[in-house]
Amino acid sequence: MVTEQYDDLGAEYAEHTASSVINAYYDRPAILALAGDVAGKRVLDVGCAAGHLAAQLAGLGATVTGIDSSSVMVRMAEELCNDRDGRATFRRADLAEPLDFLPDDSFDLVTASLVLHYLKDWDLALAELRRVLRPGGAVVLSVHHPGEDWHWLDRTDYFRTELITDEWTVGGRPRTVRFYRRPLSWTFAALREAGFEVDQLVEPMPLPECETVDPQWFKRLSTTPRFLYFRLINPPA
Ligand SMILES: C[S@@+](CC[C@H](N)C(=O)[O-])C[C@H]1O[C@@H](n2cnc3c(N)ncnc32)[C@H](O)[C@@H]1O
Repeated sequence: MVTEQYDDLGAEYAEHTASSVINAYYDRPAILALAGDVAGKRVLDVGCAAGHLAAQLAGLGATVTGIDSSSVMVRMAEELCNDRDGRATFRRADLAEPLDFLPDDSFDLVTASLVLHYLKDWDLALAELRRVLRPGGAVVLSVHHPGEDWHWLDRTDYFRTELITDEWTVGGRPRTVRFYRRPLSWTFAALREAGFEVDQLVEPMPLPECETVDPQWFKRLSTTPRFLYFRLINPPA
């Protein structure tokens, strides 16, 4: 169960994601680049984890609501953002269930960084993100790159959607993490069937500073796919 995974990862995950090259020099910059100018915008950050993206969005002038299924992550996000003058608030919520506490058309932007691959079925989650997004609003999301998952995890059938059990080292300890691997065509079809327009698909490069911080990771992220990014539009009625 993903919630327990992240509850267990806890503070060690928060420390890891604050500075890890793939989060700080690759994922969050790519999400922010696709988000554009967020000043004055109402942003829903789903799968907010320990709040590092939410903190950056709030620092850029957005008003952020962060949700996550892990109550441990929500507590850490609240602690991280307690100096943001109420511009970032958090709540425990599962994307696999209706987000009844959020009104229709109440956000200009949804950010979903590295969360959707934990869900088997995306229909309800995408319908809820569309419902709470104003017409013309955008979703910016990242998922594991399907080519990377297929290649690195040495799977035999690219076209199959399957639950993967992987081992991560976080805080010096091996941790078991489960997520879904699926082909690109599945993801594209799910986004279109939910009624979104796919505005951009991006395979980003790490920030240039990454080369000094960690030359090996810089080379890897500059030459092999890691995560995949979409910018979606909720079409005006
Ligand atoms: C890899 S982290 C996301 C990183 C984060 N967006 C950031 O910027 O640091 C994945 C997060 O998604 C959350 N998550 C997984 N499944 C979820 C679900 N069904 N509903 C809400 N959150 C979920 C996990 O608890 C975890 O905090």
